[in-house]
Amino acid sequence: MDKANLPTFSVLPRHVGIIMDGNGRWAKKRGLPRYKGHVEGAKTFRKIGEFAGDLGIQYLTFYAFSTENWSRPPEEVAAIMDLFRDYLRELDERKAENEEKGIKVHFLGDRHGIPKDIQRMMGYSERITRKKHHVILNIAINYGGRQEILHGVQALAHEVEKGKLRAKDITEQMISDHLYTASMPDPDLIIRPSGEYRLSNFLLWQSAYAELWFSDVLWPDFTEEDFVEALRAYEHRNRRFGGV
Ligand code: IPE
Ligand code: IPE
Ligand code: MG
Repeated sequence: MDKANLPTFSVLPRHVGIIMDGNGRWAKKRGLPRYKGHVEGAKTFRKIGEFAGDLGIQYLTFYAFSTENWSRPPEEVAAIMDLFRDYLRELDERKAENEEKGIKVHFLGDRHGIPKDIQRMMGYSERITRKKHHVILNIAINYGGRQEILHGVQALAHEVEKGKLRAKDITEQMISDHLYTASMPDPDLIIRPSGEYRLSNFLLWQSAYAELWFSDVLWPDFTEEDFVEALRAYEHRNRRFGGV
């Protein structure tokens, strides 16, 4: 989309979550191995991430790999890990550009269990993009919403065990503060392509009042126009948060 003619919106979500789904089916439809779908999906991720930043979305969370995705064939998992490596290398190569654009990268998920070299690159990418920022780009890798809540609850229980906190004093805010998204606003809009109508363990706590938008488009085919369509739908949502 032409950068000089970006669409404008009456309301824009502050935080958008995207479940990048449908890579495998995209490849299958073309008689290609599944990893080819992930290669294309990774391109879509770059394109939509950049576009969302240009539109002024402040927080973006991309679901890239779930705690459940380890159950896939090892060669598929290895291919996805290689794509992470490529992306992380690219972040290093483009650090000046990203700094100029004010992009700060942050990873959500359990770092243990991810190959060590990727963990190191993740830490490095977060450090090199830590300066002034307009856009927080969260990438959820080895992420599971239940696992995230469990870890937060365990940390709080530990405080109780040490006598630093009383169980009845635990607040919702404290739980939020123990999640990977601590200090970030909850997602306003969650987008799921590929014709599936579920969250698949994505931002379970944080999505309590998120608007959901589904599309049949497979992620590798997802365009900037599809993203605009989701934002247009969001513009017309009436968020009541339980009120009237
Ligand atoms: C999403 O695409 C990518 C990951 C979960 C890593 P899929 O690989 O789940 O694609 P489908 O759902 O099989 O089409
Ligand atoms: C959700 O997609 C996870 C990611 C996009 C990373 P899945 O393909 O793993 O979800 P299910 O299995 O269809 O629920
Ligand atoms: Mg899938």
